Amino acid sequence: MSDSPVTSPDSDLHDVPVPRHVAVIMDGNGRWAREQALPRQEGHRAGMEAVREVIHGAVEAGVEILTLFAFSTENWFRPEEEILSLMALLRLYADQEKDELRDRSIRVRVLGDLTPMAEPVRDAIRRIEDATRDCDRLLVNLMISYSGRAELVRAVRALAERVQRGELELDAIEESDVDAVMDTRGLPDPDLLIRTSGEFRISNFMLWQLAYTELHFTPVLWPDFTREHLFEAVREFQRRERRFGRVPSATS
Ligand code: FPP
Repeated sequence: MSDSPVTSPDSDLHDVPVPRHVAVIMDGNGRWAREQALPRQEGHRAGMEAVREVIHGAVEAGVEILTLFAFSTENWFRPEEEILSLMALLRLYADQEKDELRDRSIRVRVLGDLTPMAEPVRDAIRRIEDATRDCDRLLVNLMISYSGRAELVRAVRALAERVQRGELELDAIEESDVDAVMDTRGLPDPDLLIRTSGEFRISNFMLWQLAYTELHFTPVLWPDFTREHLFEAVREFQRRERRFGRVPSATS
């Protein structure tokens, strides 16, 4: 990761450490579209613009890792028309944004189970991952065809295989072994999770990794979410005391 100083119009944001890893459940595209009397696809298109905005905001704030929940395993059960438009949007995003992201040194990785995806979408994902592979200013994880439980099932299978092959003793399995088979292996857990649209749920997102994450819920619908909303969430995070199950440091 780059450790070059980051400047922001909101310099007070940097007086206290910013969260290294911010995860976002981007929710409310459909409601936003309904409010504007537009088809749901237009809500997703506006949601894509909010993704651009928040990526730039994350760079300004000095966040190192931004993980965005873009399409859940359960979303495969939406109407076919909506799935096709989301996949088309993902392809468009990958091809349209990859050069600018590379020029701004922003790396994009896609995490999730890509096997149900059409080949042209997987090709576009490969292109954006390849184009931005060496970038180190911000890492953006797009979670696509992803759910926390499905990820845990994949992880359990991977560990069981290691035990079966005699590479790992059952009694010796530790948290770090589980970490090592998660989609997010090698990354720190999110410090802050933001969920938009006024819903107070985790919705099967990063169930293992969110154990000690600070949660920020906002009524703002995702397409209306700006970098200012991100900065506000970061400021609220900075006011919190994280104890990780221990006693406050002043009284320990
Ligand atoms: C939730 O809103 C959002 C999604 C299921 C898709 C998220 C997609 C984007 C933000 C745009 C595409 C992103 C990229 C990176 C190409 P919802 O449809 O569940 O909204 P609702 O709850 O109001 O119906």
